[in-house]
Amino acid sequence: MLTIAKQNIRTVTLDDIDAISRLEEASFKDPYPSYFLSELARDNPETFLVLTVNNEILGYGVVDHWEDHDHLISIAVRPDSRRKGFGEALLVELEKRLSKERLLRLEVRQSNLTAIHLYSKRGFTKTGLVEGYYGDGENAIIMEKRLVKEPLVES
Ligand SMILES: CC(C)(COP(=O)(O)OP(=O)(O)OC[C@H]1O[C@@H](n2cnc3c(N)ncnc32)[C@H](O)[C@@H]1OP(=O)(O)O)[C@@H](O)C(=O)NCCC(=O)NCCS
Repeated sequence: MLTIAKQNIRTVTLDDIDAISRLEEASFKDPYPSYFLSELARDNPETFLVLTVNNEILGYGVVDHWEDHDHLISIAVRPDSRRKGFGEALLVELEKRLSKERLLRLEVRQSNLTAIHLYSKRGFTKTGLVEGYYGDGENAIIMEKRLVKEPLVES
């Protein structure tokens, strides 16, 4: 019988950090070092999520709680597993776990149209630009979304 692999989204453990570091390195010009990923995992036990298929980590996303808003620090899907809905599934699950009526904010490279499409699809809007934000001088676009409670559906 053919078994179709099912994605699973769960909270991170410190044992996941090596696999997440590899994913970071495959995904970003300026990947976060593993000690920083470990700190994020310790500080955000509910909002550092990994997406697995057959127990293999194919994606991750982390939101850190800042004083006046929640901040999407990073989200990435392994290059060979993109365009299958995994990035969006991670973002949807992260949003569900955040307290409502808080602002969710992020920075994204101006050239990263793929990620900008994903965030726009999820209702983020561009609210600013930081010139030369990244190490190589590229500008960052700031995007924000105000989370709202899902309306109750009468049965
Ligand atoms: C951004 C990223 C996480 C998206 O993950 P993904 O699993 O491939 O995305 P999904 O399959 O869930 O796509 C969801 C939406 O994102 C957008 N999108 C994804 N890939 C896209 C592409 N190549 N071109 C244009 N839009 C794209 C689309 O709006 C898509 O919705 P649609 O399928 O209805 O068109 C992934 O490309 C990635 O890891 N990139 C490198 C890391 C990165 O840049 N992270 C963001 C840092 S700010």
